[in-house]
Order: sequence, then structure tokens, then C-alpha cells
Amino acid sequence: MPTPPVDLAADIARLKKSLNAVILAHYYQDAEIQDVADFIGDSLQLARQAAASTADVIVFCGVHFMAETAKILSPHKLVLLPDLSAGCSLSESAPGPEFAAFVARHPGHQVVTYVNSSAEVKALSDYCCTSSNAVAVVEAIPKDVPIIFAPDRFLGDYVARKTGRKLVLWEGSCEIHELFSAEAIQQMQQANPGAKTLVHPECPESVRILGDVVGSTKALLDAVRSGPENATYIVVTEPGIIHQMRRVRPGATFLEAPAEIRGGEKGACTSCNTCPHMRKNTLEKLWWSLTNKAPEIRLEPALIERARKPIERMLAIG
Ligand code: 13P
Repeated sequence: MPTPPVDLAADIARLKKSLNAVILAHYYQDAEIQDVADFIGDSLQLARQAAASTADVIVFCGVHFMAETAKILSPHKLVLLPDLSAGCSLSESAPGPEFAAFVARHPGHQVVTYVNSSAEVKALSDYCCTSSNAVAVVEAIPKDVPIIFAPDRFLGDYVARKTGRKLVLWEGSCEIHELFSAEAIQQMQQANPGAKTLVHPECPESVRILGDVVGSTKALLDAVRSGPENATYIVVTEPGIIHQMRRVRPGATFLEAPAEIRGGEKGACTSCNTCPHMRKNTLEKLWWSLTNKAPEIRLEPALIERARKPIERMLAIG
């Protein structure tokens, strides 16, 4: 195995050029990965970038379902994920065969699936959505048509409240967002009067109601961009996003909301809010991935064909 160079970032830039590769990074990636990426975005922005890219190679710095989505939209490109084991609790909560049985138990329903799902589950769906467009996707379906929403029950509950629609929910959740502590956030709000609270809709309703802004990572970043220079924000999502928030508002103060400690121990901690899957990618693994053109996302062409339709329907809604 080649030894990584001292200046990883410089060598990543060189390799990227020689391979005609593009590096896409989610806002939850380590800051040093965001700094070498060609494009940083939320799930929807990254899916659009993957679809529009003219590069030969897409290196996806995110989690497995995101890289899979890129492969489905660009099947002829080489799609790399620096750490192939970077998963997602939401995607893993919905195994294909169980989801197929669930759909079969609800005949006549349209199936709306959060992109945080496997290609197999996408292939069983009518529409995909992200946290940016979930409300718009559900609103695009006629009111008298019943809807299954999967796999995130908290995002589903958010969409149901926003649209006034009754949704059949799959019982999945994001292991990070479900554990943000309403009690700790309220204490932070009391200690920081005037601070604005920014909440991702994957959080439970008890946390969402504390938010001044509830939205996807892009929506939360946009709220900071359009806010005053020296504001204070309580950030209730994975703290990787704070790197870009600091970029757009260097004079503002960003406070990370803590999450409950996992495994039943009482209390909340600030390092419990970091996604262990997203953070599996490192600058060194990114360099290794470009050097070896691996690990590659591979999907059967027939599965790609079936999984592409609901994603394209989502992209057409906007
Ligand atoms: P976004 O739609 O904000 O990118 O959400 C991504 C995600 O998976 C949050 O856990």
C-alpha cells in the first residue's frame, strides 16, 4: 500500500485532476474534507450535483445511501465512497424484504421514501424525498390518495403536521437526531436569551417545537446566512454543519446542542451529537480512495433502473 504524502490536500487535488474526479461532501463531514470538496451540500443538493456532473469519477464523502443515490443517477460513472461501511441508522431500519411486506399490507398507498434508505427500498417506492422537499413531495400527491412515509417516523410526523395529511409511518429514526435533549436545549435557551435555535426535522416534536427555524441542513445554513453578523445560534443537528455556518457568518456564535448519552446512562453530552457513520470518512481514506479508485459503489443495472424512477420524480418536483 502506498504511503500517504505529508500534504494530503495537495495530493488529493492532483489526483482529482488526473482522474477527472469531483468530490461531493455532505455538511456533516469533517471540516478538512469539506475544505477539499468541489461541492458541499445537503442530500438534495448533492443528488442534483451527482446528476449534473460531467466528471468521470464521483467521490462521495457522505454515507452509503448518498453514494448509492449518486450511482443510481450516474450509472456509467465510477462512484467511490472513502469508507464503504459508512452507514445510516435510518437506512438500516428498513431492510428490503420487510419493507416490501409492509408495502404489500397497505394496498393502494403511494410510497414516499426518504433518501436515507437503501436502493432496494427506493426501488419499492413511488417517490423519494429529502428533508428539503418532503413537504412538497407529499403535497404533490392528490389529497384522497393514502401515503406510506418511510423510514423516518419523526420526519414523517413533521410532514404530516405541515401538510395536514395522515401518513402511514415506518418506525425508523436517526440515532443522532432522536437523542437531542429538549431539557438541555431549554437550559441553553434560558442561558442565552436572544439566541436563535436551529433544528433539523429528523428531531422529535418535543425538540422541534423549541426551534426558531426547522429545516434541512441547507435551510439552517441559509437562516444563518440571512441573519445578523453577530447573532448567537443553538445548533440542533450534527455539528459538522457549523464549519460552513462559521464561513458565512464569522462573527456569529454557534452553540452545539447536546444529545442524550446512548445506552441508558442519564445525562446529555456534546460529543454524543456527532454522526459516527459520517465521520468514518477521513482525509486519508479520501486520498486512498482516489489513489486506488476504490471502494466502488456497485449496483445491479435492473435495481438501478427501478430505484431511479422515484428519485427522478422527486427531482422533477423541485
Ligand atoms: P439533509 O437533507 O439536511 O441533508 O439531511 C441529511 C441527513 O441525513 C440528516 O441526518
